[in-house]
Formats: sequence, C-alpha cells, structure tokens
Amino acid sequence: MDRYILIAPCHFGLESVLKREITDLGYEIYKVEDGKVSFYGDSKAICRCNIFLRTAERVMIEVGRFKAFSFDEFFEKVKKLEWERYIPKDGKFWVTKATSVKSKLFSTKDLQSLAKKAIVERLKQVYKIEWFEENGEEYPIRIFFNKDEAVVSIDTSGESLHKRGYRTWTSKAPISETLAAALIMLTPWKKDRILLDPFCGCGTFPIEAAMMAINMAPGMNRSFTAENWTNLIPKKEWYDGINEALDLIDRNVETDIQGSDIDDEVIKAARKNAINAEVDEFIHFQKKDVRDISHRKKYGFIITNPPYGERIEDKENLPELYKIIGEKYKSLDSWSAYIITSYEDALKYLGLKADKNRKIYNGMIKTYFYQFMGPKPPKKSN
Ligand SMILES: C[S@@+](CC[C@H](N)C(=O)[O-])C[C@H]1O[C@@H](n2cnc3c(N)ncnc32)[C@H](O)[C@@H]1O
Repeated sequence: MDRYILIAPCHFGLESVLKREITDLGYEIYKVEDGKVSFYGDSKAICRCNIFLRTAERVMIEVGRFKAFSFDEFFEKVKKLEWERYIPKDGKFWVTKATSVKSKLFSTKDLQSLAKKAIVERLKQVYKIEWFEENGEEYPIRIFFNKDEAVVSIDTSGESLHKRGYRTWTSKAPISETLAAALIMLTPWKKDRILLDPFCGCGTFPIEAAMMAINMAPGMNRSFTAENWTNLIPKKEWYDGINEALDLIDRNVETDIQGSDIDDEVIKAARKNAINAEVDEFIHFQKKDVRDISHRKKYGFIITNPPYGERIEDKENLPELYKIIGEKYKSLDSWSAYIITSYEDALKYLGLKADKNRKIYNGMIKTYFYQFMGPKPPKKSN
C-alpha cells in the first residue's frame, strides 16, 4: 500500500489542536509548520482524515518539495516529480492555487502556468501521447512557496472542509466551522458540562459542540474530490470511513448546550442549521439579549464571539456591550468563559483579567482568544 505525506492546512495559531486530532486518528506527524501539519498516511488515511478532522481546512497529498530560485529551475523540478503516480491519462489537472511568501519567484500566475506545462511535458513522455483530453476525474494542484522552497501538492478535499454542509443559513460575520471546533477543543469543555453561546448567530459554536458531544464526524454529509480517484483509493475505503463514523455516533447522551442571540432571524437560521446537521435535539436556541442571560446551575462554559465592530457604526456600542458581558459573566456562579474577538479594548471593558490569551488569525484578521477559567466541579463520589 502506498504511503504518502499528507498536508493539512489550518488556522494560524491552531496547529497544536490539529496535530492532536491527527495523532488521535493514529497517524504519525512529519512536520508542523505555521498554518499546516504534515503527516504520513495511506489511501485510507485520506478518506478518514477528510471525514473525521474537525480543524483542518483540507487534506492534500504532497507530490514534492524543493528549492527553486529561477523559473527554469522550477519548471525542471516540477517535471521531475512522479505525476503519473497520481494523474491518470484522462485526468483533468490544473494549478488551482499558488502562493509565494518571502521567495524570489513571486509571480503566482507564472508559477501556475509553468507548473501546468511542466506536468504536461512529464505526462507526454510517460503516457506517450501528445494531447490530453482531460475528460476524466479532477486533480487540483496547489503550490506553496515559502523562503524559496516550493511544496507541490494535490488537493483531495475539493471544497474547504469548513463547509460541513449544514450551514445553509448564515448570519452576518459567522465564525468558520473549523475555527469554532478548534476553539472548543482548546477549552476543557466536555459534553457533561453546560455550554452557552450568548451571541450564537447562525449557531456555529453550539452545533459544533453538539457534533462533538455525540461523536459525529464533521465530514459525513458532504463529498470530496478524491472520492472519484479510483486509481488511488478503492471506493470501499470511503464506505469504510463512513461506516466507522456511523458506528461511533452516540445519540444516547445527556448534554446541555444553549445558543442565544438578540436577533430573531439568526435564531431561526441557527435552528434550521442544527436540523441540517441532525443535532437539533441536543441544542436549545432562544432569542435573548445578553443582558438577560442567567443560569441557576454552576460550572458552565461560555464560548462565544461577540460583535467586534464589523461596521464602523457598531464600534461605538462596544464599550457598553463588553461591560455587560463582563458583569453577566461575574454573576454566573463558578463558570468559565472563552471569548474570541478582534476588539482591542475587550479586556478593558470586560473588567476581567484573562488567565490565558491566545493570538489567532481568522483569515487576515488578528483576533484574541481570552480564557477565563472557573473552578472545576467537585468529583462525583460513587
Ligand atoms: C460576530 S456575530 C456571532 C456569529 C456566530 N458565532 C456565528 O457563527 O454565526 C455576533 C452576534 O451577536 C449578536 N448580538 C449583538 N448584540 C447582542 C446582544 N446585546 N445580545 C445578544 N446578541 C447580540 C448579533 O445578532 C450577532 O449574531
């Protein structure tokens, strides 16, 4: 069985969470770099990682890694790679994305077209044909240059893995599903503890938490580009992956997950999304102003991303809003709070001292994940 180096990109700052997920699935880590984790895996790993990873953006096969300082050198080194190992005679292939950081070769357009030409040259020689119909399955190629080193890969996922398929209704400024999952995984929250998102928008945090509570794999209800690569992955391995995921679901759990938001429309969207994700029975959504939140039980978790002034006119309301969040949190007995925001004055107005603060990039936006840790509940005696 072929063994590959697989690359899974993730949000900057959350590599450790993804690394743990990959190790938990049973794969050996090869390298952890900014915004990506590489590991060893076979064709089965491609199926399982696409289906099970909650915090990866996609799963790619590394075809090659080399230094290049001129376009000629780049062309020759791409041509040298064993493309025929992956792309069949009728395969459709193109460079879907190229990026270049701190490298001599920075014109991504040129990198894209040169790579395509180099692959064509290679495959012409191997398959002994002059013209490629490209009417078969798709093999999207990605090139990432960093400090003059190129990493050349083929994408197995297709649409980014944050698109689980359940979020057909969105609110303004929704958090990405992969980021929400990673943040929950950074907290000690477990399904037997209360989770409340008082700014739940279209429900991402509660829905991701509910999927974790019942052990539902995030990629069960979507498709992946590599499902059609029968030259590399037997169909049976995809079915095995889905069956494994189905077997692991445990709907017989007791959990208290709540989402509230001031906006009635987004609460409706959240409910529909939870139905799509088949976790609606585990979440209680309610229209509520954060001013009105309360909970009589102890030891709960707030995990949330409050407004951060997406629009200029909203900015002026932030001091007051963050003051209220701080006061409400203090009024909850023995709770913990985990707040992601890009609002620079958040701590000042929350009036709280964070136990931990983690810098995370949400796309290009620098955000902070403030962690306020409450006490642990006493151990239950049997
Ligand atoms: C950044 S969005 C949260 C997005 C959410 N995490 C999601 O994935 O859709 C902030 C949310 O706070 C809500 N909001 C604003 N002021 C509020 C208030 N006073 N009480 C409760 N919710 C409020 C908005 O309606 C919006 O949905």
